[in-house]
Amino acid sequence: MKKSFRLIALTLTSVLALGSLAGCSTPAASEHQQIIRIGHNQSTNHPTHLGLIEFESFIESKLGDKYNVEVYPSELLGSQNEMVQLTQTGAINFCVASNSLLETFSSNYTLFNLPYLFSSSEAYHATMDDPTITDPIFKSTQKAGFEAVTWLDAGTRNFYTVNKPINTPADLKGLKIRVQQSPTNVEMMRLLGGSATPMGFGEVYTALQSKVIDGAENNEMALTDNGHGDVCKFYSYDMHQMIPDILIGNLAFLNGLSPEEREIFEEGFVLLNKVQREEWITAVEKAKDRAANEQGVQFVYPDTVAFQEACEPLHQSMLKAQPELKPIYDAIQKYNELYLAAES
Ligand code: GCU
Repeated sequence: MKKSFRLIALTLTSVLALGSLAGCSTPAASEHQQIIRIGHNQSTNHPTHLGLIEFESFIESKLGDKYNVEVYPSELLGSQNEMVQLTQTGAINFCVASNSLLETFSSNYTLFNLPYLFSSSEAYHATMDDPTITDPIFKSTQKAGFEAVTWLDAGTRNFYTVNKPINTPADLKGLKIRVQQSPTNVEMMRLLGGSATPMGFGEVYTALQSKVIDGAENNEMALTDNGHGDVCKFYSYDMHQMIPDILIGNLAFLNGLSPEEREIFEEGFVLLNKVQREEWITAVEKAKDRAANEQGVQFVYPDTVAFQEACEPLHQSMLKAQPELKPIYDAIQKYNELYLAAES
């Protein structure tokens, strides 16, 4: 067993041994029930947690004699990378992972990590709701022992820094910016001229506070829910990525469900997606308001063209490395055009 994996296994054992932890959602299971463990890295206020709690109630209302769903927030089961490994091995049943991290498990996921892939949030949502686009990606990790069962909104990613507004890519020069642990994100920062510092989400606050990094990039919720706006005072809407979060499930567990049970789980995934996305809209509005009025964060609206042009080579290199994804890429462009035309 590798050292890091031993650590994850140990953490998991101690967390699970605690039984009814604060934030965990259900009382102890009866001996006839199978526990379904779902991990994520957000707080209990976050739309993802609220959606998962609805999922839990729904599954238990339909299949409660057999399954007891437990939702573990706030990296209680480990970082996202660790939770993906736990889902892979079946130590837990599901976890929420950023699409970014999944590209190291299947290169098909690189597609949704491309900067400026979507020209609007409408095109992004329509793409993610289209199974002819998502299926080849969502099922591409079956050999790795898991598959995606639904997507969750994570808004638009933008740069934010401790003390310098980012108006052009040149403003990123010399700045250490935390990115998610994915080759696409590291390359994106190189193309934009900043210095990429990959690390897990849970480490970002301390890294900002101790000045190990000068800034990060994320949606507005990171300012408030994760406290990054206490340290970073400039948030620049360069709109570089719309990266979905993905609920992944252990394949052996999913394949072990009877057809009737699977149907109920599928209904639960649809419900989760719906609730999370509805909650997301108000959560982002509230986060912006709180960041501006309570944390003193200034919102900056740069011209995005120079950022977009700098990132363009990433589209070409992905299409060259994976020509089989070209039809899917083109289908996304159709959604982009459709919503641009609807706007004008
Ligand atoms: C968002 C996203 C998370 C991700 C985080 C990050 O919050 O919803 O899934 O872990 O960004 O930047 O790591």
